[in-house]
Amino acid sequence: MTDLPNLNPACAPSIDADSLFPPKRSTHPPRILLLYGSLRERSFSRFATEEAARLLTAFGAEPRIFDPTSLPLPDAASEDHPKVAELRDLVTWSEGMVWCSPERHGAMTGVMKAQIDWIPLSLGGVRPTQGKTLAVMQVCGVSQSFNTVNQLRILGRWMRLLTIPNQSSVAKAWDEFD
Ligand SMILES: Cc1cc2nc3c(=O)[nH]c(=O)nc-3n(C[C@H](O)[C@H](O)[C@H](O)COP(=O)(O)O)c2cc1C
Repeated sequence: MTDLPNLNPACAPSIDADSLFPPKRSTHPPRILLLYGSLRERSFSRFATEEAARLLTAFGAEPRIFDPTSLPLPDAASEDHPKVAELRDLVTWSEGMVWCSPERHGAMTGVMKAQIDWIPLSLGGVRPTQGKTLAVMQVCGVSQSFNTVNQLRILGRWMRLLTIPNQSSVAKAWDEFD
């Protein structure tokens, strides 16, 4: 006969069920940070990001878009560089993120990766990405591919983000915007 579990409440681990939930429901619109991976003036990943921000606003969220122009390469400047500080403040502010990268040579762009590489796993004792929500998107020059969103999912896991199953890959992105 197998051993029965010990049902003595005194031996049960003390878990306060309330501690598993946030203390109260948020009263502000969900704060969503959107990152895109291009410095081109006419950038379709930026256009797709702006469209996502418009939809988020319509759904009642508060979106903010980070412009990666002038962000130094990782470790090429100190952490108090204004663009690095701006990015980190936005990540800390956010409760969820959207990442939209162009595909280049079957991969995300360096501009996209550089932004993520500047986000620390721990910032002053706070984990700025852990447990937050992530949605991933990519734009393609020709046919639809999923190489980049798949890579973004791996990065999201690395940053302890919860990446939603939905994703967007825009084929022939140049043909989708006026
Ligand atoms: C060097 C280079 C490599 C590219 N490689 C790919 C690719 O592998 N797959 C793809 O779908 N598009 C590829 N493209 C097309 C870009 O994804 C497309 O131009 C996209 O719109 C660029 O993003 P942006 O408009 O936000 O700058 C490539 C473009 C360049 C310049």
